[in-house]
Amino acid sequence: MRIGFFDSGIGGLALLEAALKAFPNNHYLYLADNAFAPYGDKTEEEIKQRCLAIQNYFECQDVEAIVVACNTATAIAIDEMRTKTALPIIGVEPAIKPAALSEQTDVAVLATKATLLSERYKKLKAKYDGKGVYESPCAGWVSALEENQRENWPNLLKSALAEIKENKVSHIVLGCTHYIGLKDRIQDYFGYALTFYEPTSGVMQRMKQILSESLEDSTQVLDVHLMATSSVDRLEEWAVRKSLKKHSVSVIDL
Ligand code: DGL
Repeated sequence: MRIGFFDSGIGGLALLEAALKAFPNNHYLYLADNAFAPYGDKTEEEIKQRCLAIQNYFECQDVEAIVVACNTATAIAIDEMRTKTALPIIGVEPAIKPAALSEQTDVAVLATKATLLSERYKKLKAKYDGKGVYESPCAGWVSALEENQRENWPNLLKSALAEIKENKVSHIVLGCTHYIGLKDRIQDYFGYALTFYEPTSGVMQRMKQILSESLEDSTQVLDVHLMATSSVDRLEEWAVRKSLKKHSVSVIDL
């Protein structure tokens, strides 16, 4: 199968990595729309416009399924994307449900501003009324990750998480794919034991349910094409770090 993944940048690579392990024998395209990152600070119209442009691009590349590896894009645009194509589209949402069901305790949702303000997120949250749900848009985190800034993290963590820590919340929903790789930093900042909820296994289950008949199941990754709308540096670093074999990298104009 040819499967297209996209995110505003490097966040969705966590989902691509899981898919490469779970369903190796496929062709993967990954598009980091980093010329327009962060999505979380954009208007709904801007986010929809980018998602529809990417969907159109993937269709021209003959993909057979799209994974929206971005909570923000899913929250704002997935319904409209689905009205425009017959392709299966799999999205990602903050894992509030497992967090709320697992313990009788407050949870904190870390997600972008656009996700937290979206109707889709508000509906999801309303199902778990009665629990304390703290929220933080984690301002500046996505840009710091995209630009590989290292020195700002103590301030970024404090300004995003101080209130959650004061309230001794220990169940943390990682509601932005960029934050999946930040567990250690977040854990260090809190200093007490945390339970994280992240969407990777749920997305893999969904891929299996929806694509099972078409997903190839031998053990060889066919190839991975990594693309960005601006710099490909972070994608290249990732490919090297993960010892990705059959891959190519390119900048696209979209
Ligand atoms: N990684 C994205 C998400 O899951 C988008 C972050 C952003 O661009 O603001 O929400």
